[in-house]
Amino acid sequence: MEHASEEYLKQLPKAELHLHLEGSISAGLLSRLSRKYKTEFRSDAPDELARKLFAYRDFNGFLQTYKTVCEHLRQPADYRLLTDQLAQYMREQNILYAEVIFSPSIPDHFERDGRTVLEALLAHGRKLEAEQGLRIGWILDCVRHFGVEAARRTAQLAVEYREQGVVGLGLGGDELSLPMAEFEKIFAWAKANQLYIHVHAGETGGPDQVWDAVRVLGANRIGHGIQAARDARLMEYLREHAVGLDVCLTSNLKTQAWARISTNPFGLLFRRGVPVSINTDDPGLFQTTLIEELSKAVSLFSLTQEDLHRLILQGLRSAFLPHQDRMALMRQFTDQIHQIGSQALSTG
Ligand code: ADE
Ligand code: ZN
Repeated sequence: MEHASEEYLKQLPKAELHLHLEGSISAGLLSRLSRKYKTEFRSDAPDELARKLFAYRDFNGFLQTYKTVCEHLRQPADYRLLTDQLAQYMREQNILYAEVIFSPSIPDHFERDGRTVLEALLAHGRKLEAEQGLRIGWILDCVRHFGVEAARRTAQLAVEYREQGVVGLGLGGDELSLPMAEFEKIFAWAKANQLYIHVHAGETGGPDQVWDAVRVLGANRIGHGIQAARDARLMEYLREHAVGLDVCLTSNLKTQAWARISTNPFGLLFRRGVPVSINTDDPGLFQTTLIEELSKAVSLFSLTQEDLHRLILQGLRSAFLPHQDRMALMRQFTDQIHQIGSQALSTG
């Protein structure tokens, strides 16, 4: 399959496991918020704003933009707008399940209340599920460079709201800041309280970061993890322990975590049987979609149709869902994939 048609990709049911709420913002919404709060970008049209802010020198440049975006998210209503935009994205992409990463320490950092925002998001997420059948599992992310105290508060919120839609505790932000050992107790406590653990590692850091994520923090899934391809024993470990890697091709290119998309380690990881899924990371800030990312994976890494289906199903296998729910979705996905295939045969 040299190329998967946009229409075919669109029809396929999908799960997306690595999607930051803050990073899903469009230039249009950011421009609207900049007018609302009269910030320095208030007179920029969305295109101009994207040109100024959504192009990055390197990973630190990206974090700078991320901070600017977060400064524009000041009220629960802003986050609700963002979630509505995300729901529209899910509908357009036929994403039936998404794990959405939200960092409550960001509003806290700007002296706004992370808990109030979280409650608004969870309520909004439940409404989307009831009214539109879109399911969201929330991962509360500790921002590594904000330090241990902020992480402790995030973990407390995650445990407290576990029954209300929070599925995991995450660690994101600057991988090269604090060592993971500093967060060990906090993550052990979250794990003991039935939360899944998600860790950004092996994006800008080396395979040692991925080893620490699994050994020190007990990660169930790794954000990015592409640098694991440099360590054969680590790849074997990830495969045997079913620790998934959320690969984000365009993100790696735009942050310069991996300079050439066509040589991204995804190809090697996939062929070695490491459980990899395809994701956007920050669809707004990287101006991409899950369909575009899947299309790139197919064409750049010469995937067959079966490979593509395997990749899609991996998005459910690695999900932080209760077993019953995962199996129900698995069945729905395989039925739909089969149906789309027979339609293509009967019309083709
Ligand atoms: N937050 C949003 N996107 C991120 C990324 N790619 N790495 C670390 N933290 C992030
Ligand atoms: Zn991320």
